Amino acid sequence: METLMLPFSPRYIVLTICAVVTVLLLGIGVLDHNPKVWEVVLIPSLIFGALTLLGIRDLLQQNHAVLRNYPISAHLRFLLEEIRPEMRQYFFESEKDGMPFSRDTRAVIYQRAKMVLDKRPFGTQEDVYRDGYEWMHHSVAPKVRSGEQFRVTVGGPDCTKPYSASVFNISAMSFGALSPSAVRALNAGAKKGGFAHDTGEGGVSPYHRENGGDLIWEIGSGYFGCRNRDGSFNPKEFARVAADDQIKMVELKVSQGAKPGHGGVLPAAKVSEEISKIRGVAMGEDCISPATHRAFSTPLEMMAFIGEMRRLSGGKPAGFKLCIGHPWEFLAICKAMLQTGIYPDFIVVDGNEGGTGAAPLEFMDHLGMPMREGVNFVHNALIGINARDRIRIGAAGKIATAFDMARAMAIGADWCNSARGFMFSLGCIQSLSCHTDRCPTGVTTQDPTRARALVVPHKTERVYNYHRATLHALAELLAAAGLDHPQQVRSIHFSQRTSTTEVQSFARLYPSLRPGELIDGTSDLRFREAWAMARAETFSAAG
Ligand SMILES: Cc1cc2nc3c(=O)[nH]c(=O)nc-3n(C[C@H](O)[C@H](O)[C@H](O)COP(=O)(O)O)c2cc1C
Ligand code: SF4
Repeated sequence: METLMLPFSPRYIVLTICAVVTVLLLGIGVLDHNPKVWEVVLIPSLIFGALTLLGIRDLLQQNHAVLRNYPISAHLRFLLEEIRPEMRQYFFESEKDGMPFSRDTRAVIYQRAKMVLDKRPFGTQEDVYRDGYEWMHHSVAPKVRSGEQFRVTVGGPDCTKPYSASVFNISAMSFGALSPSAVRALNAGAKKGGFAHDTGEGGVSPYHRENGGDLIWEIGSGYFGCRNRDGSFNPKEFARVAADDQIKMVELKVSQGAKPGHGGVLPAAKVSEEISKIRGVAMGEDCISPATHRAFSTPLEMMAFIGEMRRLSGGKPAGFKLCIGHPWEFLAICKAMLQTGIYPDFIVVDGNEGGTGAAPLEFMDHLGMPMREGVNFVHNALIGINARDRIRIGAAGKIATAFDMARAMAIGADWCNSARGFMFSLGCIQSLSCHTDRCPTGVTTQDPTRARALVVPHKTERVYNYHRATLHALAELLAAAGLDHPQQVRSIHFSQRTSTTEVQSFARLYPSLRPGELIDGTSDLRFREAWAMARAETFSAAG
């Protein structure tokens, strides 16, 4: 009896109704010989017939349990799942909600990119009494806002072509992850605003070159654009590409915050003729970025490689990018600097809050040091080996506003990079579908019909405006604090609420080492053990 009633249970009732209505409509059409009746019932019977067939397919398919139990009706669930981020964004999100970037942050980027009013009425929506709330100190004697362009010179004593970089630049994102039009607009914006555009590890494409904006050429473990057939590093090819005047600095990617220690694969099917040419990989084969580098395997070899990159590029600033993992590994790199006398000109520290096209959830959420701890760790380690003066530090990890920049600079950064901030300026709506090749705004897609949505001249202005307005906001913030240049920002200029009744200065939260303290022997618990475990000869810990 129970089985007989199943078609009328809530689970199957939609399918039953569709089937019954189809039969009834077809019956009426067949039995009534008036041709006008067919005209009326034909379309409804086709619709209900199609739904019935869909329901039967749902019952028989084996991939989705919910469809087997709720034929037809469960499609509504999939539809709602699909549009959930948009529904949340449009109808339910408050100003401070929304991840990874809040509605408020996205809005201020859009406003600055469009050069429309970016002010807010009626007072802060922040809860200034919550744990973790942070603020910058202003001065009773504010300065007049500096009209200076805020630049920082990158290049230590071994560099013969130092680069005067803006303090705000476009973080590494490859052509391949980004569409051709996105790369063009970013580079044209960088050219107009006099700031730098990091190529990402996917090689220097013609789209990077078209508009002549300053480039930081990044190479990763796949050595795209400077590799041999077997995937090893090709020094001749590196030197040929790096000689280009548009390339101002060369960067070795050791790791990336969103997926540190994780390689990448561009499947053979996606290796178009264009990508195969730009990356120097064969068509019809998977394009692999291994998790580890082949060009070096110890800290000493890594420093030698950095020195080689600088030499091959004709003396341009050479540095590396990483997200801090095991502290002793970075300290081993510091020991290798001391032992070889080879120092990078810059280090870019990415935080685990960083973005990417696609990464495993566990990697994104729980692997690697967050940006602030990472930047401060590197800053102090370099002070501790007396190398801070010759090495510049770049920071990346959810830096999108002038306050984000000032805060990162207070704890050790010399300049800041933004990836997703500039994506928003291109029109990204945080739909979180970068990994599907179905980007609705043409930013992260290789589908030309989607990429055409991004109109290059229009977005070039937005990229330029966002950079300019953010630096304008930074100048105002610094002036209010009585400062002239971001390099004057110190940890004593910031405070954090650590409980309802307690506030700590950043100077306490991020204490500084003394110059040479690591070499002399430190008792600082953040460094003492890790320093003892670090060896220039290996990335493995001693003991
Ligand atoms: C779409 C996309 C592609 C990226 N590709 C690279 C890359 O090729 N190399 C790299 O070092 N980092 C890459 N990143 C990481 C960014 O350069 C940056 O370090 C990170 O997203 C943090 O900055 P953000 O918070 O401003 O996005 C990528 C990020 C995004 C969003
Ligand atoms: S709009 Fe495009 S770039 Fe932005 S999150 Fe969505 S898919 Fe990614």
